[in-house]
Amino acid sequence: MANRVHFPDGFVWGTATSSYQIEGAASEDGRGESIWDRYVRTPSNIKDASSGDVACDHYHRFRDDVALLASLGQGAYRFSVAWPRVFPTGRGPLNERGLDFYSRLVDALLERGITPYLTLFHWDLPQALQDAGGWPSRATAEAFVDYADVVSRRLGDRVKHWITHNEPWCSGFVAHQKGHHAPGLRDWPAAVAASHHLLLSHGLAGPVVRRNSRGAQVGITLNLSPSIPASPSAADHAAARQHDGYMNRWFLEPVFRGCYPADIVEEYAALGRLPRDWPALVQRGDLEHIATHTDFLGVNYYNRHVARSELVPERDNAPRKVFVAPASEATDIGWEVYPRGLFEVLMRVHLEYRPDQILVTENGASYLDAPDAKKRVSDERRVRFLREHLREMHRAIEAGAPVTGYFAWSLLDNFEWDHGYTQRFGLVWVDYRTQERIPKDSAFFYKKVAEENALPLEAED
Ligand code: FCB
Repeated sequence: MANRVHFPDGFVWGTATSSYQIEGAASEDGRGESIWDRYVRTPSNIKDASSGDVACDHYHRFRDDVALLASLGQGAYRFSVAWPRVFPTGRGPLNERGLDFYSRLVDALLERGITPYLTLFHWDLPQALQDAGGWPSRATAEAFVDYADVVSRRLGDRVKHWITHNEPWCSGFVAHQKGHHAPGLRDWPAAVAASHHLLLSHGLAGPVVRRNSRGAQVGITLNLSPSIPASPSAADHAAARQHDGYMNRWFLEPVFRGCYPADIVEEYAALGRLPRDWPALVQRGDLEHIATHTDFLGVNYYNRHVARSELVPERDNAPRKVFVAPASEATDIGWEVYPRGLFEVLMRVHLEYRPDQILVTENGASYLDAPDAKKRVSDERRVRFLREHLREMHRAIEAGAPVTGYFAWSLLDNFEWDHGYTQRFGLVWVDYRTQERIPKDSAFFYKKVAEENALPLEAED
């Protein structure tokens, strides 16, 4: 038998999904419009001009999908609630039928002994709240707290693991500054304001969820990425440090230390990127709320960034940060395969910020391997990707990082945001014409890991 490494007793193994990416049933049972429903209506926003209108039709097939999870030996499942199903216009009146869907989903999971991990916000903001200002407006943070209150009152008896936000860097900056995600703005001050209100809403919602769900653990999920200089030059170091501040420290510092990183605030001020009313926008007490104790930190890890500084002649030789394309292997979405980065982010978080617990709430790869004539999907590259990343996670645990669970992204192939259906991150293949699900080889590999709580270090036949 090949060598294997064992994980701590009670280690949680699961897979992750999100509402807009899998549910479909976009206008059923009173669901309101989300910013993604609106964003996909402009076909050029999405690579294949598709939408999440049907996606994996999970809304209708959730019982089968829960059975699938059970057949894959999963002890936990991370999903998100679509805010516009619960509050079609973002705040009252409540749509019982929408909330009821999640209640049935939770019951189905618990019946199979699968622990639900619920994410309150995985990007599908009600369009009505966007029309009223969206995340750049403080009122959205207040509405989020009411939404968190209602969902945790209803499900808090059965759901004990809560994630307020998924990747506020994406819902803040990718959505409002880069313009690649709904609502598709390219407006720095709006993005900075959005990021503050996202964080604030996390801070305000935590105590509310704990009050409604006795013994609940509440955390936030950040997408963290090692940011390293392309060369030893001072300019490249500065570029890497800046990128680290933009993506990682902008969120880690307020959550764990109650402040925004001074170097980045200074830089944004100099470049006119701060909202005009900053610092009044950060009201007294906000940072204390944001830094309220978090039970765990969720870490999503996909890749690293190698930064280089370039001088732009048309802009008086002002420096610009660029990223070096991976020289090594990449997944089919073009992201570098860099397993060591998982070790690096886990250790960095552990050593610098000392969370009580870390959950890897997403990690995975897009590979397009399709079923053969016998309906087998031989996705060896994903198996290798998982094996190498789990190995690095294990090394971090051995080095003291308090990692208590891992969620593979994703259970199913699904709607990959601006990439539409052109990417496949699932452990399970989805035939979008028939909605057939076919577990890939990686699903069987992962099942074994979960069931044995151990990782084989090389292929076992
Ligand atoms: C993460 C998202 C998730 C999925 C993966 C590939 O940034 O949280 O919804 O799109 O990337």
